[in-house]
Amino acid sequence: SANSMWGGRFATGPDAIMTAINASISFDKRLYAQDIAGSRAHAAMLAAQGIITEEDATAIRQGLLTILSEIEAGRFQFSEALEDIHLNIESKLTEMIGEAGKRLHTGRSRNDQVAVDFRLWTRDQCDAAITGLTALMQAFLAQAEAGADWIMPGFTHLQTAQPVTWGHHMLAYVEMLARDRSRFEDARRRMNECPLGAAALAGTGFPIDRHMTASALGFDRPTANSLDSVSDRDFALEFLSASAICATHLSRFAEELVIWSTAQFRFVKLSDKWTTGSSIMPQKKNPDAAELLRAKIGRILGSTVALFTIMKGLPLTYSKDMQEDKEQVFDAADTLMLSLAAMTGMVSDMTANREALHKAASSGFSTATDLADWLVRSLGLPFREAHHVTGRLVALAEEKGCDLPDLSLSEMTSAHPGITQEVYSVLGVENSVRSRMSYGGTAPDQVRAQVARWKTLLG
Ligand code: ARG
Repeated sequence: SANSMWGGRFATGPDAIMTAINASISFDKRLYAQDIAGSRAHAAMLAAQGIITEEDATAIRQGLLTILSEIEAGRFQFSEALEDIHLNIESKLTEMIGEAGKRLHTGRSRNDQVAVDFRLWTRDQCDAAITGLTALMQAFLAQAEAGADWIMPGFTHLQTAQPVTWGHHMLAYVEMLARDRSRFEDARRRMNECPLGAAALAGTGFPIDRHMTASALGFDRPTANSLDSVSDRDFALEFLSASAICATHLSRFAEELVIWSTAQFRFVKLSDKWTTGSSIMPQKKNPDAAELLRAKIGRILGSTVALFTIMKGLPLTYSKDMQEDKEQVFDAADTLMLSLAAMTGMVSDMTANREALHKAASSGFSTATDLADWLVRSLGLPFREAHHVTGRLVALAEEKGCDLPDLSLSEMTSAHPGITQEVYSVLGVENSVRSRMSYGGTAPDQVRAQVARWKTLLG
């Protein structure tokens, strides 16, 4: 039979396959709370403006609360024939309260309705991301504070570069996550305008008060252009983009954990809580959570690319293509929140192996730059020449199978006659990190100052 919502001009109902491709209720039922909040605000406004009676508004607002509790109790019957969450709720409302329910949709369209519901949902997810990121930053900060002066190798090209401190490495992630957090704050601020009242696309002839609904729903103001209001999905694209960048950061630390927890590195021990065993190899403790976190960016970026592809080239205003927006954002948000929680647990529960870190930092000629800098400072060599002299000493040590501090003074002077005993003081990793006191450098004092700054900022 023809549809009860718009069946007037239809002779028959849809093909069963049409229903299958058209219906979104299977996933957009997640918007039920936002849909009810939006409708309650709309009804109150219609009454305040004298468009419907106070009596009808009260019946509508009460009926919607009953529906809310039915959905939350799992007692609501969702119908695929009613397409989406908006029609499911409206139809149930009319079934419950009669005539008054049919007045709710005055001065409104599903186009502005879905736009406001989805914004409200995405805004909540920004808040959840901000909370999750703050917890993760605190976990990294605790690691940084404990190990402000623990020495480890710093890498470029995954080759030993210079000694750094554990605290410094942990704080690098705090910085990244802080930028991620500000991206969500920024996206939230920009999306916080209310599209409700744009109606189908052109606005409405009813004397609605868009400022009233905007403020009732916690928006800063109503959107200023009705066409844009029902077409815009920037807020979802921004949420996805911020999520993709954040997941990229998580994947980088995840990869470091995978490497660091190997028997070859032994830089960290992951807690049993975040690892799994092998069904055949009894010795194994696999970093599955870290591996999955390394992979999750694939999923989040996939959703991001999907929505960009859906939106590009869409003519104004609303097109049904846009119904495909929700699953992408739902999946990305779920994935991101789970990832943040898992990473927070893993970082809080991991144990750094100070000895292994120190030992690794002392190998691989990690203080070669310090030697070159000493030649510049103490002998007045131009840096390029100092670089060359040091390179010869590294080659010599490599040939002998030892490290730089193991070379004798006569071996040192063979590379440059001016070298004195004093050179050995700069070849130790402690001296090396202590000397890097430039602002933002790896010296423990610098790291402690940054830890203090972040502790104040994070409260
Ligand atoms: N389920 C639809 C969506 O998610 C709601 C808006 C439908 N509007 C319309 N004119 N068909 O996009």
